[in-house]
This record gives sequence, structure tokens and C-alpha cells, in this order.
Amino acid sequence: MKSLFPPDFLWGTATASYQIEGAVHEDGRGLSIWDTFSHTPGKIANGDTGDVACDHYHRFETDIHIMKEIGLNAYRASITWSRILPDGKGQLNRKGIDFYNRLTDTLLDAGIQPMYTLFHWDLPEGLQKLGGWANRDLTEYFRDYCAIIFQHLGDRVHYWITLNEPSVHTYLGHLYGTHAPGLTDWKTATQTAHHLLVAHGLAVQAFREGGFPGSIGITLNINHFEAAGDTAEHRQAAQRMDGLWNRWYLDPLFKQSYPADIWELYENHRFTPSMKAGDLALISQPLDFLGINYYYREIIHADPTIPVLQASASSPPPPITAMGWEIFPDGLYHVLTRIKREYTSIPIYITENGAAFPDVLQNGTVQDTPRIDYLKKHFQAAAEALAAGVDLRGYFIWSLLDNFEWACGYEKRFGIIYIDYATQQRYWKQSAYWLKDFLAVLR
Ligand code: FCB
Repeated sequence: MKSLFPPDFLWGTATASYQIEGAVHEDGRGLSIWDTFSHTPGKIANGDTGDVACDHYHRFETDIHIMKEIGLNAYRASITWSRILPDGKGQLNRKGIDFYNRLTDTLLDAGIQPMYTLFHWDLPEGLQKLGGWANRDLTEYFRDYCAIIFQHLGDRVHYWITLNEPSVHTYLGHLYGTHAPGLTDWKTATQTAHHLLVAHGLAVQAFREGGFPGSIGITLNINHFEAAGDTAEHRQAAQRMDGLWNRWYLDPLFKQSYPADIWELYENHRFTPSMKAGDLALISQPLDFLGINYYYREIIHADPTIPVLQASASSPPPPITAMGWEIFPDGLYHVLTRIKREYTSIPIYITENGAAFPDVLQNGTVQDTPRIDYLKKHFQAAAEALAAGVDLRGYFIWSLLDNFEWACGYEKRFGIIYIDYATQQRYWKQSAYWLKDFLAVLR
């Protein structure tokens, strides 16, 4: 299997700032909506917060050393907007820039290519106070923040991702209320989705105008949906889910239009987003690559009790992970080949794939055989997509470390490295040793 991947393939792990950094009050960092949300009673399992998380802000050198030891040649991280601009706009915080300079230089010294996500959900609280993403002004504040980052790091960082999973941020944060900022309103959600995409377009424009040497893309999480049965109503239900989660983002980015079926559904409920002339052209500017996060398949059945969508996911068949997500490696192959067939043949990076299991630390390690098995099967699916002609350039495992898994707090462990949160000790799980061997054979 190993020889199926080209020698210059990027092998990395992925993380996100709020999930690992901690140091939330240090060096001038402003608050983000995740600070506010995690400190709101009842929102996060066990009342956990990202205040300390993996203390990566202070321990990034140790963590980079681990990546180097494993033999990884790339690392996807995200930048905390409110470390750079504590209020989201205006005053620049030099110490924030300094941190990402140190991170970048340490990675490069270790032979690891940084890939930075500019927005992984931790919106500065100051901007939420202005109405959050439903306020169109944020698209320009995002552009300005990105331009600052490009100016300071653009000479050394070759991979940029504007947004992580705009769909998850939109729906969990603004429709279902289970993520920050905890809102539950359709109109706010559709407007948020549109503004996120406009913000993406403006950031790409700023990157192009600056003439920076690297490449830029966006990360979408594409779920693989299947109908629960071969009837028109189940098929339509699955199509609506696909429309809401996948096509609502893929179509404007690659076809310069919103999907007609979902647009009509929204129109019937009067919550289509407001748009300006030229928005779709801005959103659909050519990208250098597409990042795909893939986790699971969902089997969808028609469900008249669910407003608007009239669709629900059936409880997944085994095997499932600790998140209750079905383990379905073929879905990765389906998603990758579908993108090529229906949308684009630009280079693709799998920017996240991985699993949480009930890991137990014993004798300084974790026997996470199910994670090794999970990774093997998904690597195999990726290799099959490559063989089928998908221009796949890299694979980032979620995640390097166990971390703050949003509303699940620290309960769910996704890392190939185990974190003992009481001591901040890092322990290699068996999957990390396995990965090291896998990569050694590749070289
Ligand atoms: C993705 C997120 C990432 C992590 C994984 C498990 O949706 O991008 O931050 O939480 O799920």
C-alpha cells in the first residue's frame, strides 16, 4: 500500500488553535466566542473549557519534536484571530504574530511544512458583539486579518486554508446551537454561510493581490449520505441532506451558483440569504487546492417530524467510533471521486480524518488497535482514489494530540498522542508507533 503514495506526498496531523493552545489570557490574546461559550454553564461536557487545553502555546516545541520523531513532513494548525487582533479588527498584537513566527520557524527547522487554517471557528468575541457572521462587515474584517497574516508569514508558509468546515460552523453554531456562538435561527444560519463564503473569496483575493508564493484553498467536510431505502421519499431526504451540508458550499465554490433545490426550500420558508451583485463570482475564484475532511457515512430517511429538512439520520450500523460515527472507509473513496467527477480536478488534500476511541493509558502507552485499523483502511481508500485519478497530494490525521473536542470537552480522544491532562505529559499511543513505521518504509 505504501508504494501507492507519491514520494512528495504530504503526511501530517491536523489540529485547531482553541482545541490545543490554552494560554487564553496570555500575551494580549483577546477573547473568542469559544471562550464565552465554553464558560457558559451546560454547554460543554463536564464543564470543560479550552483555558489550558494541551498547553500547546508553551509546549509547541515538544509537540513539533514528536512530529519529527514520527517522521511527518507536514502539519496543519489554525491561527487564533484574536491573538493577532484582540478585538477582531483595529489594534495589532505583535506578540500574537511572534507566536506564529516561532511556531512556523520551529516547524520549518524540523523539516515540517506548515499548513495554516485562518479560521477554525474561534471568532473574536468583539466581532460577535457586532452581530457575528450575519453582519456583512465581518467579511472585510476577515480579509484584513488574513492580509496581515500573509504579510508576516506568507514568505515561509506555502499552504493556506481560508476556512475550516463552514457548514459545521454555520449549522452547529447558528442553527442547532451546540457550538459557539450557540444561536438557533435559520435566517442567521443561511446568512452566516453566505458571508463565510464571501469572506473566503475576499481572503483569496487579498492573497492573489499580494503575490505571495504559496497556495490557497478551503476545507470542507464532505459527508457521504445514502438513502435508507430505494424509495423516492428516502432518496429526496438524502438529497436534501447532501444539499444542505455538501452542495450548499461546493456549488457556489465550483459552479458559481447555489443549488436550486435547496434555494427553493429556503425561499419557501423565507430564509434565503441576502446577497450582493458579484458575490458568486468572488466566491468561485479559482483555488489552488481543496481540503476535504471526511469522517463518516450517514444513512438518511424521510422524517416528517423534522421541520424544513424532513429528513433524519438513521442510527448508524456498527462498527462505530466513540463519537457514535460509523466507520466507513469506502465513503472516503466515494467523496474523493465524486468531487473529481462532479466539481473539480484541482489538487486535493485530506485535511482531516481520524477517530475517537475509549483509549486507556497503560504502562505508558495506549493499545489503540482500532485506531490503527481505522487509519490503515482509510489510507487504503485514499490510495484507491489516487489510482482512480484523483489528484490527492496529502493526508492529515485528526489529530496529533488528544484535545478539547468542542461540546464533548476532553472526553473524546482523537490523538495519536495521549495527553494526561493532569500533568500535560504526552504519551505515544500504538498508532503513533505504527505511523512511524509506515512512514519509514515510505522513505
Ligand atoms: C471536525 C473539526 C475538528 C475536530 C473533528 C473531530 O469537524 O474540524 O476541529 O473537532 O471534527
